[in-house]
Amino acid sequence: MNLFELKDKVILITGGCGVLGGGIATYLLEQQATVILLHYKKGPLIEKVNELKTISAKVFGYVCDVVEEQSLQKIAAEIIKNQGKIDVLINAAGGNKPGATVGIDQSVFEVDIEQFKEVIDLNLFGSIIPSLVFGKEMAEQKQGTIINLSSMAADRAITRIMGYSASKAAVDNFTKWMAVELAQKYGDGMRVNAIAPGFFIGNQNRALLTNEDGSLTDRGNTIISNTPMNRFGDADELNGAIHYLCTEASKFVTGVVIPIDGGFSAFSGV
Ligand SMILES: NC(=O)c1ccc[n+]([C@@H]2O[C@H](COP(=O)([O-])OP(=O)(O)OC[C@H]3O[C@@H](n4cnc5c(N)ncnc54)[C@H](O)[C@@H]3O)[C@@H](O)[C@H]2O)c1
Repeated sequence: MNLFELKDKVILITGGCGVLGGGIATYLLEQQATVILLHYKKGPLIEKVNELKTISAKVFGYVCDVVEEQSLQKIAAEIIKNQGKIDVLINAAGGNKPGATVGIDQSVFEVDIEQFKEVIDLNLFGSIIPSLVFGKEMAEQKQGTIINLSSMAADRAITRIMGYSASKAAVDNFTKWMAVELAQKYGDGMRVNAIAPGFFIGNQNRALLTNEDGSLTDRGNTIISNTPMNRFGDADELNGAIHYLCTEASKFVTGVVIPIDGGFSAFSGV
């Protein structure tokens, strides 16, 4: 038996047009999985699906917002009709808002509560609602795996990103809670885990970490000096952990958050 077989898996990726979700989609298609991207804007979704079709014909896309339960339910029914099952859900849609961040010249008392709530909505409910909708289909099969995207900000205080940190800490708790609930009530075929990427240059953090000339900002330098491997991650360095969590290789693993961070979370800073 090949513990790492991906060939027959049907894998959904929210945020599949993003930097990390898109990289994961590319890798899984190269491994012959069927990959379904969910994205809330039609144009970029069609563009991404067409780009990925050059790797494999087993890629499909659906337009939907990750916090809209009804459209997710319609999509779940269509996927079951077309593919017969859902094996894996990867919740990679997520992000931050400037108002939920304490600006360089601001104090915490100036944080915009409405934007804070929007960040919670996207990162937390944007993981919970798809997990409930697609998880229900998996529970009927008594088989399925959910993978959430956590962050280094979940566990320790990283300055400025207040709303994002609270939302990702809640994602960690949801990962553990849902893992327990699904295993206890639907059996050992149901698993929920998360990966916690360290620092990868993406659309959301590029301006925070690098200057226009490519040199590091002060914040970028602080992060690198707290990363024992002394560099940012490459998106394709998430693929090994994703492959493991998607397959039988991690059959007895549920409720864990795996850091992929070049040692950032292990380091005391001294
Ligand atoms: N890049 C990093 O260094 C890093 C580190 C730790 C965690 N993460 C997390 O990994 C995930 C992916 O990050 P990324 O760097 O690829 O970001 P990204 O912005 O490139 O991708 C996120 C995608 O989610 C989509 N999205 C936003 N709102 C949506 C909605 N309501 N419905 C559907 N799609 C929506 C965006 O359009 C985008 O395509 C996020 O949850 C992020 O918080 C990223």
